[in-house]
Amino acid sequence: MKMYRVKDYNAMSRKAANIIAAQIILKPDSVLGLATGGSPVGTYEYLVQWYKDGDLDFSQVKTVNLDEYKGLSKDNDQSYFYFMDQHLFSKVNIDIKNTHIPDGTIEDSDEACKRYNSIIEGFGGADLQLLGIGHNGHIGFNEPDEMFIKETHCAALTDSTIEANARLFENPDDVPRYAYTMGIQNIMQAKTIVLIASGKDKAKAIKDAFTGPVTPAVPASILQLHPNVIVIGDEDVFSLYE
Ligand code: F6R
Repeated sequence: MKMYRVKDYNAMSRKAANIIAAQIILKPDSVLGLATGGSPVGTYEYLVQWYKDGDLDFSQVKTVNLDEYKGLSKDNDQSYFYFMDQHLFSKVNIDIKNTHIPDGTIEDSDEACKRYNSIIEGFGGADLQLLGIGHNGHIGFNEPDEMFIKETHCAALTDSTIEANARLFENPDDVPRYAYTMGIQNIMQAKTIVLIASGKDKAKAIKDAFTGPVTPAVPASILQLHPNVIVIGDEDVFSLYE
């Protein structure tokens, strides 16, 4: 595992974008596993800039996103499809047919998850998976639990996650209670995993995930067992890490 302690959010974003850019340059048809939320916004900004500068070509890149809220359609501005379109897909030369996000509009959870799982299986996992981390140590929407769930599943969001994500909704009651998410095995199948985190509020999650026991109570702790994980965090997020 490589740990990079950098100054701030901008330095974190730049370093993550550099690693993703190198991946695309070395393997132009890479399968990128992507995340949404506040953590990767700056990373996507750098990637868009370098595409505009002519340094990056997304024409052969394929993507699989970690998750999507159940019940939200693509045109809902809180959906992760909308987020990805706004922050990356509409701004680079990616072929939208090569982008994959669970379909939140499929009512039948088993069907939605089976479909998405077979897409990930078809790729044999991502070449590089970008991750954020929740305050409770979640990755994707794999919430703290008594066991790790391997495959794509419908997760009931915990109060901590609903509270954290409420900042993005007009009314906290609008935060969906369920999401379709890649499972732990789907994530662990990636050849390289890049986890980004910033801010004092995530310091305990980082400490627990990387210095504590591997346990489904802290889902990100499973990453200790992956052979190629890169953690990029700012000074605040590493403030409890020894
Ligand atoms: C997003 C995802 C989540 C977030 C995590 C951190 O696709 O799967 O695990 O990465 O909730 O969110 P932010 O970055 O908003 O703090």
